[in-house]
Amino acid sequence: EQIEKGGYDHFMLKEIHEQPRAITDTLRGRLLVDEAIIKLSGLENNMKRFLNAERIIIVACGTSWHAGLVGEYIFEDFVRIPVEVEYASEFRYRNPVITERDVVIAISQSGETADTLAAIKLARSKGAFVFGICNVVGSSITRENDSGAYTHAGPEIGVASTKAFTTQITVLLMMALRLARAKGTMSSADYRMNLQELQLIPSKMEQLLSIDENIKEIAREYMLSTNCLYLGRGYNFPVALEGALKLKEISYIHAEGYPAAEMKHGPIALIDDRMPVIVIATSKGHYEKVVSNIQEIKSRKGKIIAIVTEGDTTVKDIADHTIEIPEVSEAFTPLLTTIPLQLLSYHIAVMRNCNVDQPRNLAKSVTVE
Ligand code: G6P
Repeated sequence: EQIEKGGYDHFMLKEIHEQPRAITDTLRGRLLVDEAIIKLSGLENNMKRFLNAERIIIVACGTSWHAGLVGEYIFEDFVRIPVEVEYASEFRYRNPVITERDVVIAISQSGETADTLAAIKLARSKGAFVFGICNVVGSSITRENDSGAYTHAGPEIGVASTKAFTTQITVLLMMALRLARAKGTMSSADYRMNLQELQLIPSKMEQLLSIDENIKEIAREYMLSTNCLYLGRGYNFPVALEGALKLKEISYIHAEGYPAAEMKHGPIALIDDRMPVIVIATSKGHYEKVVSNIQEIKSRKGKIIAIVTEGDTTVKDIADHTIEIPEVSEAFTPLLTTIPLQLLSYHIAVMRNCNVDQPRNLAKSVTVE
């Protein structure tokens, strides 16, 4: 097992560090920047279904559901098509309205999650076209789909999902970019720029992973917290949800993710000098509004850990801690802002002596209801 962990103390840490490689593998042969082409055969062969779709419904569970939420922002922004994101477990039992004009995207690392599988069967029985994004080759979901694309993350052993999440977002980005070109909702200049940015993500991630020590220090300060709030807006709202999920899964600290602007409708009542608040405040996503949220937290003595863009000074002056990410366009920020949140949860869990790779009561894949 030590050999399999490749010199890391835990699979989770290894898998966090594998993300630049996992994304490179997911892009390989599909993102051809020089030719300005994205080649996903499962999408290409079914272009008509996608172009004629009236809406896209994304179904998933857990971390994959969070990737789906990021997908909603990406698809609506790039492709101008309405997207709904559903918990597979709710979707399958809700008697949902589904027609032949719907495209359902099912996202699952394992390809075995019972609720997601059942949601797919239901959608297909109503005539919808189902596209799967899975990591495990030949898994049940890949066999039940009409078509799909693999994330090439490699085996994910840690129960808390890390590289599966970022590779799922990578596939969603490629799909949306390809469809945006086909539909003409993105100019060819923007399209080319986005392809170049996507290509650069693995090296920016690599750069970001080197700040591990800084995150360890922050973890030491907050390891005994009993509650934690995660805030983000736009593309980074789902990242806030994912950050909170990671912390509760492996460190057993109660954590909640919230859209930053919703804070005033409830969570703000919880803020005092013992409440760490992790705020994603990157420069492109409603920055000024997030800064004013940070000021509200500060005036209630909350402890602020802010994820900011390199070179930020405004938030640095207010926050207790800042973690910098390299500059990227807003749609690509989730791929980077996720990394420090994964590392923070990891270090806090290790410091609390928790079983990081196999947290209590959780299973890697939930094949029963
Ligand atoms: C379990 C795992 C999570 C995962 C979720 C969905 O709860 O512990 O890490 O996100 O299932 O799994 P899937 O394989 O469908 O992505």
